[in-house]
Parts: sequence; C-alpha cells; structure tokens
Amino acid sequence: MLTMRLEGHRTAVLGAGGAIGRACVRQLAELGGEVAALDRDKTFAEGALDGVAGTHRAYEADVADPGAVSATVEAVWADGPVDGVIYAPGIAITSDVADMAWPDYRRLMAVNLDGAFHAAQAFVKPMIAAKRPGAFVFLSSMAGLRGEAGASAYCASKFGLIGLTQSFAAELTPHHIRVNAVCPGNVDSPLLRQVSEDIAAYRGGDADDVHAEAAKIGAARRLVTADEVASVCVWLVSPAASAVTGTALPVDVGALVG
Ligand SMILES: NC(=O)c1ccc[n+]([C@@H]2O[C@H](COP(=O)([O-])OP(=O)(O)OC[C@H]3O[C@@H](n4cnc5c(N)ncnc54)[C@H](O)[C@@H]3O)[C@@H](O)[C@H]2O)c1
Repeated sequence: MLTMRLEGHRTAVLGAGGAIGRACVRQLAELGGEVAALDRDKTFAEGALDGVAGTHRAYEADVADPGAVSATVEAVWADGPVDGVIYAPGIAITSDVADMAWPDYRRLMAVNLDGAFHAAQAFVKPMIAAKRPGAFVFLSSMAGLRGEAGASAYCASKFGLIGLTQSFAAELTPHHIRVNAVCPGNVDSPLLRQVSEDIAAYRGGDADDVHAEAAKIGAARRLVTADEVASVCVWLVSPAASAVTGTALPVDVGALVG
C-alpha cells in the first residue's frame, strides 16, 4: 500500500465498475483523493462508490460513443477540475483472424481503443486550458506486448493503446501532463473467468483447466490481484510518479520473463 496522500487530487476512473476500476476507486479514496467514477451504466459506477468514504460522484458514459464521452467529460469538469484519468474499460473476444465477425471486431475496438482516444481527447482539452499538470493511465495488457493465438483483435487493441500512450505522452510533455500504460498479466477477475470459458470453447477443453493454466504463467506462477494492478495505476496517476511518462509497465509477476 502506498503511503502518499492525495488530498486535493481528483481522478476520473473510467470502467470504474470493473474489477480493476473498483480497486483504483477504493485506493484513490483511501489516500484522500476525490474520484469521478464513470461506467457505461451509472449504477455500475455508483456500485464502485458504495461504502467508499469521501465526496465522490458517479457518471454514465458509453466510451464507444464520442458524443456521450464529450457530454460526460463536460459534466465531470463542471463539478471540478480533473488531475488524473485512469482508462479501464475493456472487453475480450476470442477468435482466429479468419473467423472473426466484423461486428465483433468493431465492438471490441470501439471499447478498447476508440474509447480511449475519445476519452483522451475529451479530458485533455480542459486540462491544457486549465494549465494544470495531470496524468493519464491506460489499461493495456500483457497482450499489448506479445501476440497470442485467438486474441488478435484484443492484442491489436492493447498494442494500439501503447502507441497512443507513447504519442500522446510526447505531445503532452510540454504541458506537464504525463501518459503511461499499464500491462497487467492474468488478473484474478470475472473477465479472466469469461476469457477462460471462451478459450476452452475455442480450443476445446475445460474452462477450469484453462483458468488453472492462466494462473501458472510467469515466474511467480500465480495470478495478479486487481489491487496489485490498481496500486501501480494510482501511483502513475499521482504526482509521486512525476518523472514517469511514455512507459508501458508490465504488472505480470514476471509472465514475460518466466
Ligand atoms: N482481468 C484481466 O485479467 C486483465 C488483464 C490484462 C488487462 N486487463 C484490462 O484491464 C482493464 C480492466 O479489466 P477488468 O478485469 O477490471 O475488466 P471488467 O470487465 O471487470 O471491467 C471493465 C469495466 O468496463 C466497463 N465497460 C465496458 N464497456 C464499456 C463501455 N462501452 N463504456 C464504458 N464502460 C464500459 C464495464 O461495465 C466494466 O465496469 C480492461 O481494459 C482489460 O482489458 C484485464
């Protein structure tokens, strides 16, 4: 757990209702920060704020819809300035390139990559206008650093996020706004359960076996927790990481080297 404090610091967490988003919301609040929780359904964002001490607000935005993102970001800024943005929405679809249905490909890209671009654009304009230092963190993946059979669209979206991160970071350095990507390994989460079921259906086999296999990759041969990912995201979005920008940081218990 980080020992820094975040009083006076406000972070927008997109995909706040998810496993990693919720952990980010909780840790930011525990450090004294204020959170704007966003999700595609407002009740998901409100759920993330349940029992969380402090003054936080929930908002609804489908990140695949640029108009909805712009309107919600305007509402978030009307409630106060934003210092940090954590982008955690994401969906996974398992398919070979040869068999991927175009609407599925577009749906995945719309959330994982287009949405990140929409959010980047909508949040950065008021940040620059306000002349405030700030930080963006995009949830990429180990799948953004290494390809994998059956994960072409997911990998393309997550590699794409790292390209966006590097370019956006280079553009924003003069404005004292930092941009980083975090690349989690397999996280103990409902999303990993769903992916295990999809992979079992794709390869043939048992979902529990696939999940158990996912838990053994990497030098540490265990899953990553949502809290372990969140603590890196929270650090990167905080002023404590003031010299860190343009990076893609694996949080994978050594999956890439194990
Ligand atoms: N769970 C893992 O093993 C893992 C590993 C590596 C990377 N990641 C990435 O980390 C991020 C968070 O993962 P998670 O496990 O918390 O996922 P999750 O499925 O628990 O949460 C995703 C959140 O995004 C929201 N969302 C989905 N579509 C949206 C849309 N159109 N507009 C707004 N919000 C939308 C969902 O409602 C949900 O609250 C994702 O980008 C995922 O790809 C996860």
